Amino acid sequence: MNNVKSITVKANANFALLKYWGKHDSYKNIPEMPSISLTVSDLTSTVTIGAHSKEREYYLNEKKIDKSTNDKWQKVITQFSNVSSVNKNIFINADNNFLTASGLASSASGIAALTGALNKYFKTDFDHQDLSRIARIGSASAARSIYGGFVELRNQKSGDYIDSYAKQIASVNHWPLSVLVCLTSHRKKKISSTDGMMKSKETSIIYDDWVDLSNKIIDEGRQAILNRDFLKLAELSELSCLFMHAVMMTTIPSLVYWNKKTIECIECIKELRGLGIPIFYTVDAGPHVKAICEPAYSDIALSALSSVIGDENILMSSVGEGLIYKQ
Ligand code: PMV
Repeated sequence: MNNVKSITVKANANFALLKYWGKHDSYKNIPEMPSISLTVSDLTSTVTIGAHSKEREYYLNEKKIDKSTNDKWQKVITQFSNVSSVNKNIFINADNNFLTASGLASSASGIAALTGALNKYFKTDFDHQDLSRIARIGSASAARSIYGGFVELRNQKSGDYIDSYAKQIASVNHWPLSVLVCLTSHRKKKISSTDGMMKSKETSIIYDDWVDLSNKIIDEGRQAILNRDFLKLAELSELSCLFMHAVMMTTIPSLVYWNKKTIECIECIKELRGLGIPIFYTVDAGPHVKAICEPAYSDIALSALSSVIGDENILMSSVGEGLIYKQ
């Protein structure tokens, strides 16, 4: 037994504006290219960890999960349990307040919250950079959800050694933006990001061009955020999104995450832009569309996108915080 109190930590999802799709090292889970994301409010994972009387027991959205098959969690837990003298028999309850495993970044917020909670529970006292590095081992996008606001994940080379962790580019209050998450399906995604990326690297004829493009636009993307240059960020984000999906679609067998509603939402966003409204879209490894605009235009965007998928399928969000520790 140990006398450690249970710990609850929350983390928000993040959406990549400049995306990563492909691993340099699958064992260490190091991305092949840098990425930049926006941490969003209201799409939150909550993880509670406490002492268990005799074993380890894990729950996700109130369902018991098989420890041996949950490789992502296991890799992260080991980083703490191996270096701490706190009793390793623990229960973990993780809950997402939004769809799980459907391309809405639930693994990013989930693993980030898990990392923060383990750090407190095991009293390891790692700083945010260490936590980001550890979260990355579970899911690279989770490295970014440790921080709020605008975040960059990149590789750091020292001789032959490559490390990878995220840094905050700008805080939550730097640039108020609205994010409309358009849910175009309630199904789970057919192929995981990890498997999809591996196949893309092996088979997509444009994979090397994708790596080149991602490295080429990263400085401009960061600068667009620092300058609050909406049009530049819109141009680069859509380019990164479309190129990533082109890589997915040219993977053998082809990875098509979009559905009819995905395309209708994108068309609607393009029409709004044609009317002079500053808005852009991004889509991850799932069919959902995220529309990003300045808050003054969020009502117009909501009403236009509601006519495509219904307002019950739109989650309104904004720029969110990093790890949130609950007492
Ligand atoms: O790190 P993962 O396995 O959650 O993969 C994330 C992949 C994308 O969401 C499609 C892109 C990104 O950079 O978040």
